[in-house]
Amino acid sequence: LQELPVVETDVIVIGSGIAGLYTSILASATHRVLLITKKSLLESNTRYAQGGIAAVTAEDDSPAYHRQDTLLAGAGLCSSAAVDVLVNEGPAGVQELIRLGTIFDEVNGQLALTKEGAHSHRRILHANGDATGYEIVRALSIQVEMLHNVEVWDDHFVIDLVTEQGECLGVLVQMPDGKRVFVRGQATILCSGGSGQLYRYTTNPEVATADGVAMAYRAGAQIRDMEFIQFHPTALSYPGAPRFLISEAVRGEGAVLRNIKGERFMHRYHELLELAPRDVVARAIVSEMEETRSTFVYLDITHESPEMVKHRFPTIYETCMQYGLDLSSDWIPVSPAAHYMMGGIKTNLHGESSIKRLFACGEVSSTGVHGANRLASNSLSEAVVYGSRIVNQIRSLPKRSSDIPAVSFRLGRTEGPFQAMVEKRLKLQKVMVRYAGLCRSRDTLLRAQEELGRQLPLFQALLSKREEYEFANLLTASLLVVQGALHREESRGAHFREDYPERNDSAWQKHIIHTRDQGMT
Ligand code: SIN
Repeated sequence: LQELPVVETDVIVIGSGIAGLYTSILASATHRVLLITKKSLLESNTRYAQGGIAAVTAEDDSPAYHRQDTLLAGAGLCSSAAVDVLVNEGPAGVQELIRLGTIFDEVNGQLALTKEGAHSHRRILHANGDATGYEIVRALSIQVEMLHNVEVWDDHFVIDLVTEQGECLGVLVQMPDGKRVFVRGQATILCSGGSGQLYRYTTNPEVATADGVAMAYRAGAQIRDMEFIQFHPTALSYPGAPRFLISEAVRGEGAVLRNIKGERFMHRYHELLELAPRDVVARAIVSEMEETRSTFVYLDITHESPEMVKHRFPTIYETCMQYGLDLSSDWIPVSPAAHYMMGGIKTNLHGESSIKRLFACGEVSSTGVHGANRLASNSLSEAVVYGSRIVNQIRSLPKRSSDIPAVSFRLGRTEGPFQAMVEKRLKLQKVMVRYAGLCRSRDTLLRAQEELGRQLPLFQALLSKREEYEFANLLTASLLVVQGALHREESRGAHFREDYPERNDSAWQKHIIHTRDQGMT
């Protein structure tokens, strides 16, 4: 056992997407902040967000409409109180982002607004056409770097939360040179993002390995709604290309879907056609792919002028061009890919988890806003709205005395060569796509459970390398997804069971909660 060096701060922020950057900026007005990110300030899921940020700014729109759309998409599992907070406080959150330097697109001096699936009104703000997340990260990271009260540790990996008697004392961190420290704080905010790397095909970057959910679960926090994983209908599907997101805003601006015979098909699945809820569009695409024995369908925006396409979607245009695909004149091959984790660490309306002094913000949290299916572009607004509430709550916390016990840590041994971990991760991702993906059944989920269970002996080993910790986190989260999906014997929102294809409100209008000590309830 090794006693760890201690580093003191006030507020520990883990993650550097919109939630981490924004809460750091706000908290720094009253507290010392240590922002820990496992890669760099600029790398996160936020950075790749295209479509935009949903908030009511237009005169013909209202929070009541935004509320209604969010609840409808959430398929009966949203918390209406959490949604009220989002829709009422979202517009102020957007103004705050603008005050902090974010430049959203404008038309004739007014904020430009687009539409995405299941929104009744145009209410999605965007930046540089289709690079909204990048613009937000750019603006906020400049602020963070200027603030003397915010220290940034990049390339540092948080291994675990340190808790005692239901209270979070801080975190155990692995430094770039492999040494460990115990960081102590008055409050810890997990902003560590999502879990796209659970699946072989994902729009998420490499860093999205469900670390926050897994470490909160190990610490005993309540984890909710893990069976609801959103698949984005239209990721680029082209040999040699990554599953690059092709924003729903492309369909919002009139693009249509065609199967490989060139036929439009969404009329056979939903009255809202290409702008139906994401789960409907994603399953419709898979069904067409199966019927035509293809690995993709086409997205077609060729009716628009090349000028409009290049101006409105410059990032998508340029990325497709790298693979010889011209968005303005070619049909683009697309297929669904894992995109967003609706569930996560259960929080109250102030972002507090079930562990004292532990908060969760952004994709890692389950505030109750998204229910069984997130409405497009609600995630960036959720992070801002709840981030601000979290910081207010931290300001009202009584100061904890500093006589916190020392923390010891048993140094692990390596499990094997790096390549072995890469192979394990790939195997897990394939199992999840095949058996716990867009369509599941009892048989496939049992198969997933069995295959994943074979990896469990890893937990008996003492880990030491970052990729081993990441794999252990992925394994924990994938088992939570599979167990929740197996338990929920109905189809709702993003969770589709082939053996229970109907929604069953009388039995299942409720949440599944996982805790380390009580299992699943
Ligand atoms: C998109 O641009 O289609 C993604 C927006 C989102 O996931 O909210």
